[in-house]
Amino acid sequence: MKNLETARTRVEELRALIRENDRHYWLEAAPQISDQEYDRLYRELKDLEAEHPQLVTPDSPTQRVSGAPLEEFAQITHRTPMLSLDNTYSEAEVVEFFRRMIRLLPSETIRTVIEPKVDGVAISVFYKNGRLQYAATRGNGTVGDDVTQNVRTIRTIPYSLQGLAPDEVEIRGEVFFPKKAFRKVNEEREQAGESLFANPRNAAAGTLKQLDSRIAAARGLGVIFYGFGYYSGSELSSHQESLARLAEWGLPAPVKTWKAESPEAVIEAIKALDEIRHDLPYETDGAVVKVDDYQQREALGYTSKAPRWAIAYKYQAERAETQLLSIEVQVGRSGKLTPVANLSPVLLSGTTVSRATLHNGEEIKRKDIRVGDHVLIEKSGEIIPAVLEVVLARRTGHEKRFEMPSKCPSCGEPVVQTPGQIDVRCVNVECPEQVKRRLEHFAHRGAMDIEGLGTMMVAQLVERGLVRRVDHIYALDGEALGGLERMGKKSVRNLLDAIEASKKQPMWRLVFGLGILHVGATAARELGDFFGTLDALRKASLEELQKAPNTGDVVAQSIRDWFDNKDNQDLIEALRRHGLNFGKGEEAAKVDDRLEGKTWVITGTLSEPREVFADLIRSHGGRVAGSVSGKTDFLLAGEEAGSKMEKARSLNVRVVNEEEFRQLIG
Ligand code: IVH
Repeated sequence: MKNLETARTRVEELRALIRENDRHYWLEAAPQISDQEYDRLYRELKDLEAEHPQLVTPDSPTQRVSGAPLEEFAQITHRTPMLSLDNTYSEAEVVEFFRRMIRLLPSETIRTVIEPKVDGVAISVFYKNGRLQYAATRGNGTVGDDVTQNVRTIRTIPYSLQGLAPDEVEIRGEVFFPKKAFRKVNEEREQAGESLFANPRNAAAGTLKQLDSRIAAARGLGVIFYGFGYYSGSELSSHQESLARLAEWGLPAPVKTWKAESPEAVIEAIKALDEIRHDLPYETDGAVVKVDDYQQREALGYTSKAPRWAIAYKYQAERAETQLLSIEVQVGRSGKLTPVANLSPVLLSGTTVSRATLHNGEEIKRKDIRVGDHVLIEKSGEIIPAVLEVVLARRTGHEKRFEMPSKCPSCGEPVVQTPGQIDVRCVNVECPEQVKRRLEHFAHRGAMDIEGLGTMMVAQLVERGLVRRVDHIYALDGEALGGLERMGKKSVRNLLDAIEASKKQPMWRLVFGLGILHVGATAARELGDFFGTLDALRKASLEELQKAPNTGDVVAQSIRDWFDNKDNQDLIEALRRHGLNFGKGEEAAKVDDRLEGKTWVITGTLSEPREVFADLIRSHGGRVAGSVSGKTDFLLAGEEAGSKMEKARSLNVRVVNEEEFRQLIG
C-alpha cells in the first residue's frame, strides 16, 4: 500500500510539472526545460500509470492520446454559428471601418482591441460544468466535424477548466502548427520520401483531419483561444474581460494585444504587431481589430456572414518579380522527378532566393510557365518559395515551353507515370542520381553521420564507379580514396576514420539511413526502441509492426515491403559482414540542447583530450566538425592554435577558449 501511496504522490507531482511546463511552453512561449526533459517526465508518468492503473484519471496528460482510429468524423451543430471576418489588405479600409463605427455611435468612445490573426484552423471547444465534452471545426459555420480525439492531444487544452465554470460554454479559437514543429515535420517528411506541407495552416488542417489521433499527438499542435460562442449565464461585458476569463480558466489566449481608440492608433497597433509577429511561435497572417465593449458590439450588429464590429487586416505575403532562367529536373532518392526553377537571384523575406520548386509537370502546364518568363514568386514566413504566376505583360514571344522528360535525365531509362498520379518516376534502382541521393541520405548527419561524405564526395564516388550501393562505402580503402580530387593523406585518413566510426551508430540511425519510404528519423528511433535489433525489425510481421508506436498500416506495409525485397536483403547481409551495429548501440547521454544546431571545431592544446570536449559538445546537442568552414559557428581554441584559428578569424567565426566554453555549457 505504501508503494501505491508513494506512486500517487509522484504521479500528482508529475502531472503538475507537466501542466506547468505546458503553460510555459505554449502560453508564455518560454520553455523552462528541454524537450527531452519534458519527454522524460511524461514517460515516467506513463510508466507509473501503467504500473498502477487505478491512478489513471481522465484528465491526466497521458490520456490525451487515444488509440483507436476513427472511421469518419461525426457532425456537430454549433450552439451559436461560427462567423467569419471581413478581410482587407488596405489600411484605408481599416480607417474607413473605424470611421463608420464612429458615424453609427457618434457620442461614444470606441475602444478596439488588436490581436494577432493566427493562421491555423478555427475550432470550437465545448465544456459542460467545466469538463471538456467535444471540439468541432468551423465546417460551414453551422455544422462542423467532431475532431475531439485530435484536439484532446493538444497539451494546453485542459480536460477541466480551472476555477468557476458555467454550465455550458463554447470556446472559440484557432488550432495551429507551431513553426518549429512545422520545420521538423517537413524535414522528416522529406527524409521519409513523403510530400511536404506547403505551410503550417495546411499542416494543421491535415493533422486535425487525421482519423488516427496518434498522428496528431506526435505532431504537437497548439491552440490560441480568442472568444466565446454560446456561454450560459455570461456576465462578461467586454473582450478584455473575456480574454482575462480564458486565462483564469487556464486556457491559452493571445500573449500580446493592443488597445486603440482612434483609426490612427489602430494603424499604429497593426504596425507594432507586424514588428513582433515573426517572433511568435505560430504563423500569423494578419491583425484582427475588434470592438472591446459588448454593448457596442450589439449596437453595431452583424451581416449574414460577419460581425460589423470586427475586421481582419491581412499582411501582404512578400512577393518579388524575377526571371526564370532554366528548369532543372531533379531525381529524388525514390526516383521521383521534380522540376526546379532556377531564378535570377532576388531578395525576399530577408533571404536571397534563386530557386523555387515547380512541384510537377502539371503545375507548369496549369500556370503556363515558360523558360525565360518573368514570374512572381511568393514567400511568407515558413512557406516554401513558390512561383505564383507568370507576368504575361513581360512576355516577348522568345520564351520556351517546357515538357517533363520522357527519359530519366540521369540514367536515360524511360520514366513511369502511374495512371491517375501526377508524379513521374525513374524506376531504375541503379540510376546514378538516385544512388547519389541514397548515399547522401545514408551519410548525412541525421542518419549515419559520416563526416566528409557530403554531396561532392558522393558525386565523385558514384561517377568513378567506386560506390553503387551504401555497403560499398565500407569497402573503400586508402588507395581508392587517394585517387580522388582534393584528397590528401590526411583527408583520406579522416574519411576512413569517420566511415569506421559510423559502424557503431545505434541501429535506428541505420534504419533511418536505409531510406525506407515513410520511415523518418522519429519513426526510426521509435522502431529502434521497440524492436531493439535490426533483425527483430527485419523479421517482424505486419501485425507486429503495427504494434510499434505511431506505426499505422501504411508505414508497416512499407517496412515489410522493403525487407521483403531481395536486393535489400542482400544489402542487409553485406552490411552485417562489414560489422555494422545491428543493436541499439551507445549514444552519448544528452544533457540538454543549449548547443542545438551549432557546429564546433576544436583546435590547439586543451586541458583534456579533444574527444572529451567533443563528447561534451554532443551531450549539449552540438555537432563537432573537423575543419573550419562557412558552416562553423564556434572554434574552441586551446594553446598554440594555428591555421584553424586564422581561418576562423577570416570567416568571422566566434573563437572561444576553454574557460568561455565551460561557461557556455554551464
Ligand atoms: S475572431 C466572429 N480572432 O480568422 C469573429 N478570429 O477570417 C470570429 N482567426 O474564422 C473570429 N485569429 O478562424 C478572431 N484573433 C482572432 C483570430 C481569428 C485567427 C481566424 C478565425 C476566423 C477567421 C476569420
